[in-house]
Amino acid sequence: MATYIVLMGMQGAGKGTQAAILSKRLGLPHVTTGGLFRAMEGQDSELAREIQAIMKRGELVPDHITIEVVRQRLAKPDAAQGAIFDGFPRTLPQAQALDALLAELDGQVSLVPLLTLDRKEAIARISARWECTLDPTHVYNLRTNPPKVPGICDIDGAPLRQRPDDTPEAAAKRIDTFFEKTAPLLDYYRQRGVVHEVDASQSIEAVSAALFKLIEANQSA
Ligand code: AP5
Repeated sequence: MATYIVLMGMQGAGKGTQAAILSKRLGLPHVTTGGLFRAMEGQDSELAREIQAIMKRGELVPDHITIEVVRQRLAKPDAAQGAIFDGFPRTLPQAQALDALLAELDGQVSLVPLLTLDRKEAIARISARWECTLDPTHVYNLRTNPPKVPGICDIDGAPLRQRPDDTPEAAAKRIDTFFEKTAPLLDYYRQRGVVHEVDASQSIEAVSAALFKLIEANQSA
C-alpha cells in the first residue's frame, strides 16, 4: 500500500526541512508545490512570469494551475509507492483534487502531521532562511541551522540565496493566508482522524523523531 503523507503547518514551521528528511529516510519523493513553482523561475513563458509575481507578493497560485502541476508530478514513476506533500494542498478544492488523483492510483492520504509554531518564531525563522541555488531543498537558517561556511551549501558547495518571497511583508501575508484559506482544511482531514499535532518549536532532530514515531504508529495501526 502506498504511503501519502501531507505535512501541514504555517509558513516557517519546518515543512520543507522535515519533508526533505522524511523523503530521504522513507525513499519517497518530496512533492513541494513551492519548489516546483520556484523551479519555473527564469522560464520564458507568460505563465512562469505570472507565477513568480504571485509568489513574490505572498499570494496563492490559482488552484487549477497548482493541481495540474501536482498531477504531472504524481504521474512520475517514483510517486507510485507514495509521496511526502509539502505546501499542498492549501485549499479545499486542492484537497478534493488530491483525493481524486490518489484514488486513481488506488491510494489515499494516510497521515497529516500538523507542525505547530507561534507566528513570531515563524517570521523570525523565515527572515533568517537561506537556500541552496543548486538544490533548494537544501535549506539553512542563519540563526538556528547555519551552513559550515557562510554563504555556501554544505552538501554541494553551491552559493546560498534568500528567497525573493522571504521579506517580512510577504511572510506575514503568507501566514495570514494560511489562517484564512489553509487552516480550515484541517477540519476536512480531522473528520477522517488523520491529523496529529507535532510541536515544531523543538530542534529539527526532535521534530523528525516525533514524526517518525507518528509514521511508525500509523503503519502498524
Ligand atoms: P512554499 O515554498 O510552500 O513556502 P511557504 O508556504 O511560504 O512555506 P515555507 O517554505 O516558508 O515554510 P516551511 O514550513 O517549509 O519552512 P522551512 O522548512 O523552510 O510556497 C511558496 C509560494 O508558492 C506560496 O506563497 C504560493 O505563492 C506558492 N504556492 C506553493 N504551494 C501552493 C499551493 N498549494 N497553492 C497555491 N500556491 C502555492 O523552515 C523555515 C526556516 O526555519 C528554515 O531556515 C529552516 O532551516 C528553519 N527551521 C526549520 N525547522 C526548524 C526547527 N525545528 N528549529 C529551528 N529552525 C528550523
